[in-house]
Amino acid sequence: PRPILITRHGESQDNVRERIGGDSFLSPNGEAYAKKLAEFVTKRLGSERAASIWTSTLQRTVQTGSFITGFPRVQWRALDEINAGVCDGMTYAEIKEVMPEEYQARKLDKLRYRYPRGESYLDVIQRLEPVIIEIERQRSPVVVVAHQAVLRALYAYFMDKPLKEVPHIEMPLHTVIELSPGAGGVYEKRYKLME
Ligand code: G3H
Repeated sequence: PRPILITRHGESQDNVRERIGGDSFLSPNGEAYAKKLAEFVTKRLGSERAASIWTSTLQRTVQTGSFITGFPRVQWRALDEINAGVCDGMTYAEIKEVMPEEYQARKLDKLRYRYPRGESYLDVIQRLEPVIIEIERQRSPVVVVAHQAVLRALYAYFMDKPLKEVPHIEMPLHTVIELSPGAGGVYEKRYKLME
């Protein structure tokens, strides 16, 4: 059966600065991951005739996928990270300090909380629908290089996790999660490629 490989982008410059959103490039660490990912994908999917690499339109995922050769790469806006609206570019500490009501509201209901002029997890789940339909139509493996919130939603869909758990699913950096749909449900395997 065709596997779906999902991974977050490598560590970005904004991850290092602890800023959310934005469109930064990878840190040196993140670039090291991108290279390891390319090796891994070549080994894992090298014998496949067809496979495709899907990224978001943001630099950090495009750059993470850029070392993978031999397969077509497709950019999806629907895979872009949750839009943090007025909080884009801030750290969580800054949000807590400058907009304490927003910080509290999100903490109380992270699934439904919508950033002012941005999105909620529910919004992200909804905009992922065309991506999910397309993944399910694929007959060859897909590598999805995306972002924490987006991958929580995708993972929850394939692993049949309840909505309320989505914003809290652990989605570590520098790890590939392989999802293999089978008769008894989806089988999952994790590969931590580096720290
Ligand atoms: O920049 C956004 C984060 O990747 C999403 O994390 O929903 O846990 O704040 P969070």
